[in-house]
Amino acid sequence: MSESDLFNTKQFKQKFLAMYPIEDISFKESFAAEKSYVECQELQKLLIEGTVLSDIAKRYPPKASYVKAFLKSLISEIEVQGHEVSESIYTLYTNLLGEEKESPCCLESTFCGGNSGGFYRTYTLESGKHVTLRETSNLVVDGTTGLRTWQASHVLLEFLLENPSIVQCKRVVELGAGLGLLGLGLIIEHLPAAYTFTDHHPAVMDALHHNICINIAQCQHQDGKTWEYEDCIVRLVPLDWQSTTAADVAACDVVLAADVVFDPRLFPALRHTLSILLDAPGDLQSTPPCDAVAESISSSNVVKSGLMNGNLSSASSLQSSSSMQPSLSPPSPLPLSSQASSLQPSLSMQPQQSLSPPTSPFSSHSVGARRAALLAATVRNEDNINSFVKCLEDASLEVVEVEVRCYREAPSRPLHSVKIFRITPPDPSTLSRSSE
Ligand SMILES: C[S@@+](CC[C@H](N)C(=O)[O-])C[C@H]1O[C@@H](n2cnc3c(N)ncnc32)[C@H](O)[C@@H]1O
Repeated sequence: MSESDLFNTKQFKQKFLAMYPIEDISFKESFAAEKSYVECQELQKLLIEGTVLSDIAKRYPPKASYVKAFLKSLISEIEVQGHEVSESIYTLYTNLLGEEKESPCCLESTFCGGNSGGFYRTYTLESGKHVTLRETSNLVVDGTTGLRTWQASHVLLEFLLENPSIVQCKRVVELGAGLGLLGLGLIIEHLPAAYTFTDHHPAVMDALHHNICINIAQCQHQDGKTWEYEDCIVRLVPLDWQSTTAADVAACDVVLAADVVFDPRLFPALRHTLSILLDAPGDLQSTPPCDAVAESISSSNVVKSGLMNGNLSSASSLQSSSSMQPSLSPPSPLPLSSQASSLQPSLSMQPQQSLSPPTSPFSSHSVGARRAALLAATVRNEDNINSFVKCLEDASLEVVEVEVRCYREAPSRPLHSVKIFRITPPDPSTLSRSSE
């Protein structure tokens, strides 16, 4: 088996598990006409064992119609190239044709009630680690948008994996967490010290609970809503922005939210929740291990440190070239690091001191550090986003547009732009200066 065959097989596996659009998967190169019979049979075996028959797919199956379409496209390409399709692939395909149910997970819980059509999608992170989520493909199920993964979650996860110190060793609270891609990705990469997922819809909370359990099964506490994943304490807490009180919110250092800016009627409630979280009393987390990490920042990490230390807005223009690339897999066959690399050389030209202003909202060292929220919003209606920003500014929250990234699930899918905002409470020193 050639290197490129092995590489392609890995790519097919990632794409299959993430239900990457079939029209964007090409088997042509792998089954080139000049390949021998033996090579083709071996490759088919490897490919099918890595996809349809992989342990992950057996345990957490993608949508049955997707599996059928994947096999159909594979069979058709092998035949077009004049090769013989292996017996096992034909058998798998014909067995599936006889199946009526959409996917085994539809049968097992209320999550898949009605016609929501639940299935599993497994996303592969740059590190090779997986996040598996039970999802639906509909935009609205059961009156909620939370049963599928939205573009802004992919983008914010990608951004934070490129700038890990924003969440490293921090206590993070996520609002409107949906199915959990963002938080699970960060937890699996061992970044936060504590992560609290919040949402309000019962079906979303159910699905999120299931997704947390299957990804970080270790050490679930008896309450069923707290887990320990190595050094990270993970919690699942119901939180409705429309009735948030200070007592509801966990002490935190960073608030995250992805694709929560969609309904203007919810803006005041969301602002209220953000204000409470950002103003909540309690020390910002700065545990010894985190300081040790921060102090050992290498020159390449200075870039990340710079981004987290208040230079986020200045990074936006530098990031725009990388932004044009599709992001995180399911989706993206591109490694995350390759997308980040284009901005690193220019940023690392900056001297370290200039990257660490003392009032950094993300720095665990800074005196008087403020909590901050990072909010990612897919731009569907610019006016909507502007009016949300205005709503926050009216409450004296500071809003900085950190950057705009483009996201495309696959070449055949539409291009979305996602804006990332940093939201902080007013800087006390600015307030006192202005009142003098
Ligand atoms: C568009 S989805 C985004 C889900 C997830 N963050 C993502 O990007 O995939 C919006 C999320 O906000 C949640 N949500 C809507 N209204 C809410 C409210 N009043 N309080 C708390 N969460 C709410 C929904 O349940 C849903 O999970």
